[in-house]
Amino acid sequence: MHPEGALLMFTDPASQTPSSPAPPGDMPIEEFRSTGYQVIDWIAEYLDRGPRAPVLSQVEPGEVADRLPEKAPTSGEPIEEILGDFGEILYPGFTHWNSPRYMAYFPSSASGPAILGELLAAAISQNAMVWRTSPAGTELELRVLEWFRDMLGLPADFHGHIVDTASIATMLALAAAREAHSELQIRTEGMAGRSDLKTLTIYTSEEAHSSVDKAAATLGFGLEHVRKIAADNEFRMIPEVLHDVISADLADGFHPLAVVATVGTTSSTSIDPVAEIADVCREFNLWLHVDAAYAGVAALVPEKRHILDGCDRADSIVINPHKWLFTPVDCSTFFVRRPEVLKAAFSLIPEYLSSERDSEEAVTNLMDYGIQLGRRFRSLKLWMVLRYFGAEGLAERLRYHMKLADDLVEKIENQPGVELMAPVNFAAVCFRFRPEAMMEIEGGKEEEETERKLEELNSRIMAEANASGKVFLSHTKLKGKYTLRLVFGHLRTTQEDVDMVWNLLTDLSETAG
Ligand SMILES: Cc1ncc(COP(=O)(O)O)c(C=O)c1O
Repeated sequence: MHPEGALLMFTDPASQTPSSPAPPGDMPIEEFRSTGYQVIDWIAEYLDRGPRAPVLSQVEPGEVADRLPEKAPTSGEPIEEILGDFGEILYPGFTHWNSPRYMAYFPSSASGPAILGELLAAAISQNAMVWRTSPAGTELELRVLEWFRDMLGLPADFHGHIVDTASIATMLALAAAREAHSELQIRTEGMAGRSDLKTLTIYTSEEAHSSVDKAAATLGFGLEHVRKIAADNEFRMIPEVLHDVISADLADGFHPLAVVATVGTTSSTSIDPVAEIADVCREFNLWLHVDAAYAGVAALVPEKRHILDGCDRADSIVINPHKWLFTPVDCSTFFVRRPEVLKAAFSLIPEYLSSERDSEEAVTNLMDYGIQLGRRFRSLKLWMVLRYFGAEGLAERLRYHMKLADDLVEKIENQPGVELMAPVNFAAVCFRFRPEAMMEIEGGKEEEETERKLEELNSRIMAEANASGKVFLSHTKLKGKYTLRLVFGHLRTTQEDVDMVWNLLTDLSETAG
């Protein structure tokens, strides 16, 4: 830490007029210090023993709001009271993402170094909108993303910066894809009412995340113009179908713009064949964006490096440390091959910021690479995570989660009455309970009826498991079939946790059946 001496240097007692009234000021520093120690003690206990509460909050809608006053306080309140209400009123309404038995969606664990990084980032309150408003914030972000890119084995010509979420990164990527056709003048003239413009189309798999649709809706492409390409039996986009759909669109007078491929889809963590998709993109001159929000970090594990095969040919890629890299929300890394195109889409310098800019050759002003002007100092926590655990430590932890998943697969394969629903590529296991009596029925009305019963059974098991407070898991549908998911991604999840959860689900399947 920096010595306090540096602070003293800037405190000039002579400049303080004794007669001027003291400013109302902040929390007294001694109160901050003693409360801060208590808060850190509370966090340490929380991390060490885990939440003493159900993993999935059991409050009813409105229950928290009913306990919060309708009006803000007129005068200040003691910090003890505020923290007391954090425990009494808010705590029951927390779903514990930072619990080892949070196995829903994609778990996100907040590690010790990341929490300390968040704390320091809040204290130092940096806003790296332009370089000079935070030289360290800007340069650390760029350097940390170079490290991360290299650790993942991505090519050195990717420029990386941090955004809040993968959804925003995908939207920025599609905006850049549009700006890559600067001859269309969309940035200045827009798209509305232009008879000279063909309709722009986007391609992604039927298994892609809904953020692709949201980006298309936001950018004015329209949901109808997001073509959902069929996936194979392992839920991967089929490049031949992609090729055919693009060709048909061209013949019909559309303007194909971009493909979004996924490495680690949300439902089953399938991996699109990025290299083959890159071939199609090259043939039709389309922007290739890769959504590796969940699974990209797995490339830190040497034997998993191949999952990013083909991504070296992408135009942009997003990978979220806030999913499976022990960094709390939000922290999403966005890499672009041609940063000048992204900049052309978003750089806009109002007068009041023009004097605050340093030479474009010398510095990067991060406001030029997206919508937001103000930005949180997110690189600090990522820097601390990468340094504290190191590449090997991170790989070891990711490998452990994948081993938990592989061992569960083995158990499922040897257990009658449970069905594995998708290949396990990472640390997400998709399965469903299917009693013997419902095993052999295929085709026609009877199968439909069986599917309905299986959905009822499995959703009941999930609801009861979640209501027990011992675990939080979620579901999806794969090729129309109701599927349960258990995802391992928390730093403190152990084999005992997995065994306990599996026994609970198995017991529930026997009573719910
Ligand atoms: C594959 C994939 N892409 C994108 C997202 C959206 O991520 P974010 O919450 O960072 O916008 C998710 C979320 O789970 C995801 O699974």
